[in-house]
Amino acid sequence: MLRSTFTPILSTIRSNSKIPKVSFPVFNASLQTPPTVRRNASPDQSSPLLAYQSPPTSAYVHLPFCRKRCHYCDFPIVALGSSSHQTQDDPRIFNYIQLLCREIEATKTESINNPPLETVFFGGGTPSLVPPELVSSILETLRLKFGLCSDAEISIEMDPGTFDARKMIELLKLGVNRVSLGVQAFQEELLRACGRAHGIDEVYEALEIINSCGVENWSMDLISSLPNQTLEMWEESLGLTVKAQPTHVSVYDLQVEQGTKFGVLYTPGEFPLPSETQSAEYYRMASKTLSNAGYNHYEISSYGKSGYECKHNLTYWQNRSFYAFGLGSASYLDGTRFSRPRKMKEYMSYVHNLENAMVDNDVDSHVDAKDMAMDVVMLSLRTCRGLNLKCFRSEAFGSSFVPSLCKAFRPYVKSGHVVCLDDQRRALTADEFDSVLSSGHEIEEVVAFIRLSDPDGFLLSNELISIAFAAISP
Ligand SMILES: C[S@@+](CC[C@H](N)C(=O)[O-])C[C@H]1O[C@@H](n2cnc3c(N)ncnc32)[C@H](O)[C@@H]1O
Repeated sequence: MLRSTFTPILSTIRSNSKIPKVSFPVFNASLQTPPTVRRNASPDQSSPLLAYQSPPTSAYVHLPFCRKRCHYCDFPIVALGSSSHQTQDDPRIFNYIQLLCREIEATKTESINNPPLETVFFGGGTPSLVPPELVSSILETLRLKFGLCSDAEISIEMDPGTFDARKMIELLKLGVNRVSLGVQAFQEELLRACGRAHGIDEVYEALEIINSCGVENWSMDLISSLPNQTLEMWEESLGLTVKAQPTHVSVYDLQVEQGTKFGVLYTPGEFPLPSETQSAEYYRMASKTLSNAGYNHYEISSYGKSGYECKHNLTYWQNRSFYAFGLGSASYLDGTRFSRPRKMKEYMSYVHNLENAMVDNDVDSHVDAKDMAMDVVMLSLRTCRGLNLKCFRSEAFGSSFVPSLCKAFRPYVKSGHVVCLDDQRRALTADEFDSVLSSGHEIEEVVAFIRLSDPDGFLLSNELISIAFAAISP
């Protein structure tokens, strides 16, 4: 999903926030300072600190068309107009896809031995507005350029009201095998307040199509903390989500973005938005309801049935490299994040320049290992697996990082927000952790992983990640 693609990861860390607030996921972010890393690090690709060195096997493709802009949305989109159900012959879509394919073709690859793509994610915008034959041409261009594994995970974001069973079947025939359905809420009044181009009837129609077409792997997006959303409404949305039986659920806490309609109308924490305490309650309720229904809460905002974690998004959390194509999308190649222009005209010039070898987006900049460490800390602590401390033992961070981090987290281990685990992933009790810290023993010998607890540690993630940053860069 594109939330991931456009919002700087670092912007989610609000070091001065007083009350726990969960930031919704932002992954393949356009970081303000693109981090790169020393090239002389040891080639242990299993370490997230070095994972970026492996050639990319994932591609994000941005399809920006929407019928209209939702009131919370600040993504780079092209609003086609509410009545635009027939997108078959829309030249705006056709021309964009041609441009996008040119971008893919003009992209430099590191070597001829690059592995084929294992994941492709069509994010938006509303990719389900794009006619399947154009989706097919993108897939074919990717296949010719990079190769595509026969069992690649191919995800597409779809909006209720923009597809019928015929379109769904055509997409499945092309190899699309994962659907991400943007439902957001199950209450007509909330959908209307969000400026969604669909109502609740279209939500149920979309669920029916997904079921009848036999889509096995699909995700539902929900937003919590919407204006005038009550705890009862949220409970109802979660209950109906569980009833619909998606294999994956993404729960995002509303981000009120500047420049959006919500940004003009509302101030976070003030009525009719829920207070931060209420938002935290919504988060706890989601975690409890979905966990009880058999979903693993594998990342701050992501829940999946076993085996249905989103492989594409795992690329982001594991600090692995990925391609990105299309308006405003951000790639992560060779340790460098690069954002494409968000405006169509500029994106057109970008593609033109790329074709004429006038874009230099692979500068061999030597950015410090600390920047990469911060990325890894932030990405890892968002996951239930947590941070693998082993990769921080290298001399690049000196010997003090792990002990400093453990000391800084001491009160949070005690309060239950942070969990320390040994190399067998057994959680240490707070007393065990305390006695290792006080004994003068090498803490690295005992603590192998650190993770945030679910839900309270995740709720404090911004603060806890800031504390970890301070341990890296005192
Ligand atoms: C790229 S958007 C999906 C677009 C798709 N057309 C739709 O509206 O469902 C991915 C998801 O990000 C979430 N999202 C977008 N903007 C958000 C915001 N400001 N706050 C919270 N969640 C947001 C929504 O749940 C949305 O489904």
